[in-house]
Amino acid sequence: MDRVVLLLAVVSALGPAAEALDNGLALKPTMGWLHWERFMCNINCDRDPENCISEQLYMQMADVMVKEGWKDAGYEYVCIDDCWPSYQRDAQGRLQADPQRFPGGIKKLADYVHSKGLKLGIYGDVGKKTCAGYPGSQGYYETDAKTFADWGVDLLKFDGCYMNWTMLGEGYINMSRALNKTGKSILYSCEWPLYEWAYHKPNYTAIRETCNHWRNFDDVFDSWSSIKSILDWTSSHQDIILPVAGPGGWNDPDMLVIGNYGLSHDQQESQMAFWAIMAAPLLMSNDLRNICPRSKKLLQNKLIIDISQDPLGKQGSCTGKFDSFEVWERPLSNNRLAVAVLNRQEMGGPRGLVAIAIPGWKICNPQCNVTQILPEYKEMGVQPLLSKLVLSVNPSGTALLTITPIGKRVDMHKSHWQDTSGQRRRVTIL
Ligand SMILES: *[C@@H]1O[C@H](CO)[C@@H](O)[C@H](O)[C@H]1NC(C)=O
Ligand SMILES: *[C@@H]1O[C@H](CO)[C@@H](O)[C@H](O)[C@H]1NC(C)=O
Ligand SMILES: *[C@@H]1O[C@H](CO)[C@@H](O)[C@H](O)[C@H]1NC(C)=O
Ligand SMILES: *[C@@H]1O[C@H](CO)[C@@H](O)[C@H](O)[C@H]1NC(C)=O
Ligand SMILES: *[C@@H]1O[C@H](CO)[C@@H](O)[C@H](O)[C@H]1NC(C)=O
Repeated sequence: MDRVVLLLAVVSALGPAAEALDNGLALKPTMGWLHWERFMCNINCDRDPENCISEQLYMQMADVMVKEGWKDAGYEYVCIDDCWPSYQRDAQGRLQADPQRFPGGIKKLADYVHSKGLKLGIYGDVGKKTCAGYPGSQGYYETDAKTFADWGVDLLKFDGCYMNWTMLGEGYINMSRALNKTGKSILYSCEWPLYEWAYHKPNYTAIRETCNHWRNFDDVFDSWSSIKSILDWTSSHQDIILPVAGPGGWNDPDMLVIGNYGLSHDQQESQMAFWAIMAAPLLMSNDLRNICPRSKKLLQNKLIIDISQDPLGKQGSCTGKFDSFEVWERPLSNNRLAVAVLNRQEMGGPRGLVAIAIPGWKICNPQCNVTQILPEYKEMGVQPLLSKLVLSVNPSGTALLTITPIGKRVDMHKSHWQDTSGQRRRVTIL
């Protein structure tokens, strides 16, 4: 009996602190493409037919995702953001797509995306209007959930504009129930905490029960200052937001802007590394029809995606800030560790960090196998606890590594072990 209780206590200490939304989805961070950061609310299809929010845009992205290896790399959801609907609901009170820009309607678009083996995401708002002023879902949660399910939509991004904050939680919970009631599993992406932080600390237990991922902080922009502000917000709130991340529910630091205009290649590598460390949804917002090969290779880097999708499902955290370096670590399956070292000194050239300064390096006792993934793949070999390894990191760039402990660590059968300096130490086994 005592044993059972102890076991349960251990198990619950390993998992996230709250129950996840039980719709069977987002067991790993969502991967896909979302139009907002790159295409925004461009509705001028006369002047800019290639880039306006129209069914053609999503069909072309779906085509490219299959042809150019994105789907094989794991990117699955093709997601519509704001500015898709008509300003008027139909005679039955249902949302409808803008008839000029989506002549086939959303159902036909969903069928097309599904025929490519991909999934379709759509956008709505918990309040009276969407952020761009299109019809919101307040008062229509059940109607809209049913409409999305009837169309075959697979994901809903639900924004929080035009809503009295005192009713935000109720609205998000009501929509979650309405989605459940349709009987179709629809991935539910919320912005509940983002809109609540301005007034008070959100209830993350309730949020995890309600949503599959949730935005905490401002929209991402195509700039390094935006990426830095997201990292800073995340590290300064990690005690609150880390415990609730895990299979079924994730913190969402917003889209990947890799492949656009505003980030240097080192900064693009930093975004990719940190989004993997943060167990963040990997929703690209870029033009996959026309993307630089180097950005494409980075976004499709299997070793980074493996960190993002690691089955342990634990979000990483900032473990050290010193000498204008920032060290973040994410525990991975099989006792491995992913480590990202960001050089925040935006001057000069590459700077070196001795690997033993990484707090998690202690797992290299007596040894570990080190693989560098960024800035370039390099097997750094078996390293002792007192390694002389130095990592070189470019300004605003990141060194991303995985560390695998090898050899006997704490030998449970003996009370002694030999450390690398040859000194004999006594280890007390409790
Ligand atoms: C609805 O919720 C119940 C209870 O949490 C769950 O078992 C079921 O799978 C959910 N259905 C859908 C379609 O999400
Ligand atoms: C928001 O709702 C609260 C509680 O119902 C109410 O007191 C307040 O006046 C509302 N605020 C606005 C701006 O409508
Ligand atoms: C949520 O649903 C409850 C129960 O149906 C209702 O009383 C409440 O007004 C709804 N809240 C919102 C914001 O729609
Ligand atoms: C937060 O939400 C949970 C789950 O809905 C609830 O049990 C708990 O009482 C809430 N906590 C606070 C402080 O409101
Ligand atoms: C260290 O890792 C590399 C890359 O994963 C692998 O090829 C190599 O066999 C590993 N070495 C040891 C000793 O485990």
